[in-house]
Amino acid sequence: MMIPGPTDVDQRVIDAMRRQMIDHRSGDFRVMMRELEERSRRIFQTENDVYLLTCSGTGGVEFAVANLVDKDDRVLVPVFGVFGERLAEACEFYTRNVVRVEIPLGRAADPEVLKKALDENKDVNVVAFPYNDTSTGTICHDLEGIMRICRERGVYTIVDAVSILGGRDIPVDRLGIDVCITGSQKCLAAPPGVALVSFSERAYEKARRKEKRPHYLDVTKYRHFMRDRSETPFTPVITIFFALNESLRIILEEVGFGKWVRRHEAGAEALYKGLERLGVSFMTEPRYRSPTVIALNPQQGIDAEEIRRVMRERFSIMIAGGLAKFRGKMFRIANIGNISQQRILLTIEALGKTLNILGVKADVEEAVNSCKEVFAGRWPG
Ligand SMILES: Cc1ncc(COP(=O)(O)O)c(C=O)c1O
Repeated sequence: MMIPGPTDVDQRVIDAMRRQMIDHRSGDFRVMMRELEERSRRIFQTENDVYLLTCSGTGGVEFAVANLVDKDDRVLVPVFGVFGERLAEACEFYTRNVVRVEIPLGRAADPEVLKKALDENKDVNVVAFPYNDTSTGTICHDLEGIMRICRERGVYTIVDAVSILGGRDIPVDRLGIDVCITGSQKCLAAPPGVALVSFSERAYEKARRKEKRPHYLDVTKYRHFMRDRSETPFTPVITIFFALNESLRIILEEVGFGKWVRRHEAGAEALYKGLERLGVSFMTEPRYRSPTVIALNPQQGIDAEEIRRVMRERFSIMIAGGLAKFRGKMFRIANIGNISQQRILLTIEALGKTLNILGVKADVEEAVNSCKEVFAGRWPG
């Protein structure tokens, strides 16, 4: 599974789900919930609450926007792919004042673009953006710089980190991110079904003052149930909570969070090197290249879907196509979750052979060796 989530999960995460149900208003549940809360805070590097919602990443984005964005707010959304577009659409549901900053394909937001946009739109009070747009394989290479500008201007921030949290270090409190979102099925290597959303105190206060919050996804209900009872306000997806708790245990206590992130970094470096050697061309400019999703141009005259088909049928490796308007125009390889040298080497070898099968010359051995060189110097174990 080399698609950008869901990804392959550890056997112990699968085993964690082979359990009878427990009462979500019981002591057993609360014990698990406290562990999950504590582990989630460590992953987000925050002292604030991290809410565990029974929904996919989009539900987490909806939770963020529906609670934070009010009808008089003016929201700035840098758009550099499908997920920026979706975020802008979600914000437009709650306010008419959404400013989209369109960024050319292959790039992502950076501090200069953001500063200019904020200078031109002085009344903006919320900035919302994907840190890593999965549809275009682009990352905001200077999140620190972007967040510095947001802090200076005092704007609220919503960061969609669905396809990157855990694959990059995101110190939510140090950077001053108000609301940060991820999903269980990406870099946290659990099955899909839970969105995790952190909320700063000032973002919570803004939400609390909002006249109309959503009924089901009301942050004040989540806070009350989490703080007073270590429960969720409604029935949660208990089985996936078991799985996520086990996956976070492995990440934090067995592998170590720093090492988990460095595996993503080394894996990305190896994949980019190997792909370069195969002669594949990238959709993205070098400084905006995502470490978790690699967007590639199909080779001269070859259909991206053909590449995917051969990879799947001959080598049992799933890679992704282009999303929405990018369908057929690119293919994507993810570096998400349980990163291992073996998975990367198998993928590079299979892609090289696939290209050869489809009549494109690619030196498989050279590509595989270039990955191994990266592993020799960079692999964190
Ligand atoms: C950046 C980003 N945001 C949001 C989502 C939506 O997540 P989901 O498909 O879990 O609803 C995704 C999914 O790939 C994503 O990559």
